[in-house]
Amino acid sequence: MTLICSNPSNSLNGSITVPGDKSISHRALMIGTLAIGETIIHGLLESEDVKATIKAMRQLGADIRQTDGPDGNLWHIFGRGIGGIVEPNNVLDLGNSGTAARLIIGIIASHNITATIIGDPSLSSRPMQRVLDPLRNIGAQFVVRAGDKLPITISGTNQALPNNITLKVASAQVKSAVLLAGLNAPGHTVLIEPRPSRDHTERMLSYFGAKLSTEDIGNGSRKITLVGQPELTGRKIIVPGDISSAAFLIVGALITPGSNLKIKNVGINPLRTGLLDSLKEMGANLKILKVRENSSEQVADIQIKYKQLKGITIPATRVPSMIDEYPILSIAASVAQGTSVFKGVGELRVKESDRLTAMAEGLKSCGVMTKTTTNSLTIVGTGGDPIDGGATIASRLDHRIAMSYLILGLVSKNPITIDDGDPIETSFPGFINLMNQLGANMELK
Ligand code: S3P
Repeated sequence: MTLICSNPSNSLNGSITVPGDKSISHRALMIGTLAIGETIIHGLLESEDVKATIKAMRQLGADIRQTDGPDGNLWHIFGRGIGGIVEPNNVLDLGNSGTAARLIIGIIASHNITATIIGDPSLSSRPMQRVLDPLRNIGAQFVVRAGDKLPITISGTNQALPNNITLKVASAQVKSAVLLAGLNAPGHTVLIEPRPSRDHTERMLSYFGAKLSTEDIGNGSRKITLVGQPELTGRKIIVPGDISSAAFLIVGALITPGSNLKIKNVGINPLRTGLLDSLKEMGANLKILKVRENSSEQVADIQIKYKQLKGITIPATRVPSMIDEYPILSIAASVAQGTSVFKGVGELRVKESDRLTAMAEGLKSCGVMTKTTTNSLTIVGTGGDPIDGGATIASRLDHRIAMSYLILGLVSKNPITIDDGDPIETSFPGFINLMNQLGANMELK
């Protein structure tokens, strides 16, 4: 456990990049493993979560090597092809990563192998039923402890049935598990999601040669059809910077007077940009520059200048596109003018921690007025006055909670300490150094 203290800060200034997108990094490794031939990944996020996926893919038989590239490491995956993964001779330990666990359960479900998945205490407390039920449909079997939590032993099937399912939650993890399982099923896998969630899996599968179509079918729902048993061919992938990591710097610059920051090469997949929409509604000075496309994903530079923000009400319909950004948005709301209400955010209770409680209680102990219901969070902003701070906040094995409170420390009267900075390594290695390079004053205790 590393105690980290965030002291009141100077303005944040500079032009930087953030580490690679976590969702895309996991998928590139997994889909590269299921492809024939070599996949070369540029800009892979080299964080604890992604290292867990690298290790698991090797255990499933992928040959994964790292070489030096002109600007950073290159990762080479020599895939096994769909149907070609092998039974691991040890448990697959996916650490803190819900994405790794759920997507890999999907891959194994339609292969004739048995594997056991374990994780850290945070991952072992997260619900897995949402992914197991759809996969039972295709013939996979699971041995699970009460409550459908990890550890889970999967007995996959090599005679998977094509799925035809309507998801109850808009979850890209569940959707991706179903689609990845559908790769090794004959016929069409058809899935309806209640609202569009991030579509990196669909984009990447098409990019690797799968036949997949999406159709808006009214009421915000979307139907995805995958043609089973395609031949995926290894490709070159350039991973953009992670907008969910950039989010901490974006809000940091918006709330710290005098800041002027440019973040280059950030992924702006339209199903991930709810935070930018919300901040613009709060009056933020944000510019999206040089929009371009790389390996089937949109990328841009983002310019941010300090601006006093105002509170907003965010509708439940925005939840899928900013699911991971509520903790950092609640920091922006804390110093905004007026009250903010986040509606329909019950899903936050089953992330790396119960993020609704973590934000409501942590903010209170820093002197911010908050209120929660089972499904909403209300925050009364200070109108730009510094908040009291001075608290020590529990990170709860949750990287985004840890980084959010370090950002709040930038504009607090008294330093804010987090009891454990180690979870930051799951998604944003180098966060503290980068923040200090921009003007922050964060120290390891
Ligand atoms: C992710 C999907 C989201 C998100 C998670 C990453 C993904 O989870 O919270 O951090 O890469 O598919 P849900 O799909 O469960 O909402």
